Amino acid sequence: MAEPIPTLESLLKEAKKVFRDKFDSEADIAVAAPGRVNLIGEHTDYNDGFVMPMALPLVTVIVGRKIAGDITTIVTTNQDADEPRTINIEMPNVNALVRTIEHTGPKWSLYVKGVIANYHGPCPPAFQAVIHTSVPTGGGLSSSAALEVGTYTFLDALTGGSPNESLNDKALACQRAEHQYAGMPCGIMDQFISMMGKNGNALLIDCRSMTSELLPLDDPQIVVLVTNSNVKHELTGSEYPTRRKHCEEAALILKKVSLRDANEADIEYLKSIETDDTLIKRARHVITEIQRTTLAAAALKDKNYQKFGKLMVDSHNSLKDDYAVSCPELDSLVCLALEVEGVLGSRMTGGGFGGCTVTLVYSHAVEKVIDNIKKHYKGKPTFYVCKPSHGAQIIHK
Ligand code: ADP
Ligand code: GAL
Repeated sequence: MAEPIPTLESLLKEAKKVFRDKFDSEADIAVAAPGRVNLIGEHTDYNDGFVMPMALPLVTVIVGRKIAGDITTIVTTNQDADEPRTINIEMPNVNALVRTIEHTGPKWSLYVKGVIANYHGPCPPAFQAVIHTSVPTGGGLSSSAALEVGTYTFLDALTGGSPNESLNDKALACQRAEHQYAGMPCGIMDQFISMMGKNGNALLIDCRSMTSELLPLDDPQIVVLVTNSNVKHELTGSEYPTRRKHCEEAALILKKVSLRDANEADIEYLKSIETDDTLIKRARHVITEIQRTTLAAAALKDKNYQKFGKLMVDSHNSLKDDYAVSCPELDSLVCLALEVEGVLGSRMTGGGFGGCTVTLVYSHAVEKVIDNIKKHYKGKPTFYVCKPSHGAQIIHK
């Protein structure tokens, strides 16, 4: 059986109850921002390429209210977050030219502080808030982006926001928060989809022009199965910047702005000048993955799910063999899914070295996939049967 996915209403109810218990008053602001799963286009966002994520029905909600004074208090109910789980933040002065927020405190608080520091709207007043989530933490489903985008949306609700600010600019501010405060040089995918997701649609994002296109994924016969390996290898943090650096090096050798501008002939050129084998493999993954994502978008428009699924499998193999970001647990989950009739495609999703796989499967076969994995996977997986869901929203203010 897949995990039951809590409704937005039940998450809000729980968050408001915690708020009442903790602050002895009612929260009058409520916002939500989802986690995401990437269908295809992995490690392409920081190469100016294409990505195709969808927003998940797993969401982070933030409830709260404005208070007098300059000290904000925030509580997270997340038992996986590092302690303390209640923090105080001294808010920036309304007249300050630069909104300085300290880089100290538990790791989880840095995502929130980074967003407050990078917020574009009116200077936020002090507030009290409770963060509550159904996105598994550290599972590669972007709980961190959901926290950032949720915080940004909360600040919009609190201050009234900037009426003309685009969703792109808001997402970019959240990405900057992650770079500056969490020290993770991520691309734009996670914050974009959490900000912009739409029910029943995947989002094709061109990470160069930063434009996006909604692609309907609402066939009732098809579902997206997210399987959490429940492993996270420590490599995630250190290997990501190394991959980024290798891509930049390869682009430099090719005299291209980024690998988005490279093609198969460039791979042959890299071979011909005896470029380091690692660099060739990394570049080959990115170049072919960008092509696969474009093909997958066309396949989705044609409702050609077989083709889409095949591209997902090719993507996994490329991430495993050329980009070297998979791990035995993810490979095993993909193999076990592909054994089942009715599975269209399966691949690792997100940064890699653990986290989740994403499987496109006919609805009638999903329980068989879950059974097969449960029977043979050497670990404790969790399953989420998902439809593309909504991006960030203010529920009330
Ligand atoms: P992912 O974003 O894939 O879930 P990361 O390791 O990038 O994994 O981010 C996970 C971190 O984000 C957590 O360790 C925690 O610091 C923070 N985080 C995410 N959601 C919450 C939450 N609801 N409350 C507190 N911290 C959170
Ligand atoms: C994520 C990162 C994204 C993207 C992805 C790999 O962890 O936040 O920006 O690069 O890895 O596709």
